[in-house]
Amino acid sequence: MLTETFSEKSQSTLYTLLPKVQNFLKMPKKLFIGGKWVDAVSGKTFPTYDPATGEILAHVAEADKEDVDKAVKAAREAFEKGPWAKMTPSDRGKLIWKLADLIEENLEELAQIESLDNGKPMAVAKVADLPLSIDLFRYMAGWATKIEGNTIPFSLAKPETFVSYTIREPIGVVGQIIPWNFPLLMAAWKLGPALATGCTIVLKPAEQTPLSALWLGELIQQAGFPDGVVNILPGFGETAGAAIASHMDIDKVAFTGSTEVGKIIVKAAASNLKKVSLELGGKSPNIVFSDADLSTAIPGAASAIFFNHGQCCCAGSRLYVEKKVFDKVVEGVSEEAKKIRLGPGLDPATQMGPLVSQEQFDRVSSYIRSGISEGGRVITGGNRYGERGYFIQPTIFSGVHSDMKIVNEEIFGPVVCAMPFEGVDEIAPVANQTIYGLAAGIWTNDISKAHRLASKLKAGTVWINCYNVFDAALPFGGYKQSGWGREMGHAVLENYLETKSVCIQI
Ligand code: NAI
Ligand code: MG
Repeated sequence: MLTETFSEKSQSTLYTLLPKVQNFLKMPKKLFIGGKWVDAVSGKTFPTYDPATGEILAHVAEADKEDVDKAVKAAREAFEKGPWAKMTPSDRGKLIWKLADLIEENLEELAQIESLDNGKPMAVAKVADLPLSIDLFRYMAGWATKIEGNTIPFSLAKPETFVSYTIREPIGVVGQIIPWNFPLLMAAWKLGPALATGCTIVLKPAEQTPLSALWLGELIQQAGFPDGVVNILPGFGETAGAAIASHMDIDKVAFTGSTEVGKIIVKAAASNLKKVSLELGGKSPNIVFSDADLSTAIPGAASAIFFNHGQCCCAGSRLYVEKKVFDKVVEGVSEEAKKIRLGPGLDPATQMGPLVSQEQFDRVSSYIRSGISEGGRVITGGNRYGERGYFIQPTIFSGVHSDMKIVNEEIFGPVVCAMPFEGVDEIAPVANQTIYGLAAGIWTNDISKAHRLASKLKAGTVWINCYNVFDAALPFGGYKQSGWGREMGHAVLENYLETKSVCIQI
């Protein structure tokens, strides 16, 4: 129980937790299956930690294969026979909208939960994670009534002899496996389109951050979704996650996480050839030209990497700066980095919290050591911050070259490699020199140059004179090893729909 596991120096003694958050933390954390809160079949639980202190926040029921089987049965039942299967698109849309309203009513509470479980500043959760989640559900609520097929003219038969049309149908039972960097928002990105299209869902939040998904489960119940439409199973990747990916009665798996695990998912999905969509890693180039407005490009480049502590799949982790302004931009980004206030997420003054876990702290620290040992120069940062929790200083490397590990691998922390380039002709191939293709940034006042370069970059999103800008209507996803399919926008609906051709002789 929370009260027993918090020490005197816990965040809850330093900052006031909202009453509903206090209650939630004290309640048992169960699995949400078939509209009921149940213990794991094994009876096992696992701890989730406050990354600002390393203390246990709560113990959560740990799903494994048997629980996944139970959840898939409930989801199958709800998909084939329940009220969900018969519901009008309009009523489905209303439920999704209601869920958005309930999240909005719980905004402050969910922001605290997100901050406690993930480490991010509560202020960030309030302006990014929560509003984006709410808007995503509202945007998807609108799609429920707009999923249409086509009428198709025939070429080899007389027009009056055949009529044919397509129907778009929900794909069925969907498994969704999400990461810990934006726990609630990733759940929204996945659940929104699956619900809009009429699928039923088995969702596995990341083991590092299960709490906001459990709160969301309560809101789903409160909104009035029929039992079994959404099932929520906290658990580990190798057990619950693997059981979802390989399950014979799941029709589609949607995954967000590492490219490494993405490949495991693809292999596991071969069991029944379930459809797969993947949103994976990145090593995104952020390109600053000398003709850019440096007063926005410099803070923009800093926020491109340091937002959410660099724990963004689209983080601008390779900063390419035109030679003429290289020193000035690097110095500017480094000044920005030094200004960032690190601290626990619930402190209103905090701008950057801890990394999510000991494992991520170790991983990012080892990348920093590798950068130094391969000859990179640390311009600023490079160390742990404080003595407790998983804090790492915002870090800038220069003096790096293209075959170094820190230039090629996703670090997923507040660490950027700054590299000079000569001019526009040289930069596209350099920027594309990566196995990833999730995002890219361009900073210039020359609009023609910006458009020309945007067309050459192999990336699912190109930001020009901005970075990390998202909208529920804007598709997001990766070229190359950054993924399959798109999240958000009209495009994401494709992940959750089958097309049926109906052909009639008349
Ligand atoms: P991960 O890819 O292992 O975890 C993401 C999700 O996949 C979690 O829910 C996890 O439980 C699940 N999972 C893990 N192994 C699985 C398996 N064998 N079968 C099915 N599901 C499985 O990522 P992790 O270990 O948390 O972070 C490692 C690195 O991955 C990070 O340093 C970062 O580079 C990258 N990453 C990328 C993310 C993105 O948004 N693209 C998000 C999280 C991590
Ligand atoms: Mg946690």
